[in-house]
Amino acid sequence: MLAELKNVTRYYQQEGVTTRNLIIDQVSLGIEENESLAVIGPSGSGKSTLLNILGSLDKPSSGKVVLDGAEVDLLDEKELAAIRNRFIGFVFQQHHLLPQLTLIENVLLPVLPVKDKAKQREATDRAHNLIERVGLKTLVHRRPAHLSVGECQRAAVVRALVNQPRLLLADEPTGSLDSEHAMQLAQLLGELNREQNLAVVVVTHSMEVASYMGKIYRITSEKLQLTEKR
Ligand SMILES: Nc1ncnc2c1ncn2[C@@H]1O[C@H](COP(=O)(O)OP(=O)(O)O)[C@@H](O)[C@H]1O
Ligand SMILES: [Mg+2]
Repeated sequence: MLAELKNVTRYYQQEGVTTRNLIIDQVSLGIEENESLAVIGPSGSGKSTLLNILGSLDKPSSGKVVLDGAEVDLLDEKELAAIRNRFIGFVFQQHHLLPQLTLIENVLLPVLPVKDKAKQREATDRAHNLIERVGLKTLVHRRPAHLSVGECQRAAVVRALVNQPRLLLADEPTGSLDSEHAMQLAQLLGELNREQNLAVVVVTHSMEVASYMGKIYRITSEKLQLTEKR
């Protein structure tokens, strides 16, 4: 199992207030290697909360998170950061490309801290291959202001993959795209899942986007339920 949530509950509690705001309740989820899955649910249903806990960006109120066989709770910040960096790629609704850098410079940012020269070369080669794969080859020297939102989002996907993570976590990755480009990106994520030895988790409120993933889960009343694919 690549990643696992075991009976994960997350609530928010305001200081001085006794009632808790329960967001997700006793959720368990296993993600196998090479699996692709979507988590759907309306705005405010806890999708980002779930994804952030899975990516160890947030901690559950109770329950366990296991990443790459390691129980997240038992790791210190440094060990956790190392797992996050080598094991997980993140894509968000906003691409977060740096405006002063070109597409290729943005994509290669995660390669800069890599000290081993051979590994750096490898990551750079991988970046160029992925750029070609997602159809951005002729645009590598452009800055984000001269790229479309869809092109920026594809660049953000490449940036998330240059250090060869095993798990890609995408939070509303198509949220800034029109429906045609949203479908293209969803399809791309499905293809990368199949081609790159990569598990993909996409959080979305769009059933259409979700349909490109192998499994679809829905958050309903703080619980996660597997949905039949139509
Ligand atoms: N830091 C926080 N403090 C209190 N409540 C929060 C916090 N973050 C999220 N929430 C609440 O948790 C619920 C789920 O949020 P979220 O996971 O962002 O939902 P979604 O991504 O499905 O739109 C919302 O009601 C939101 O207001
Ligand atoms: Mg969200």
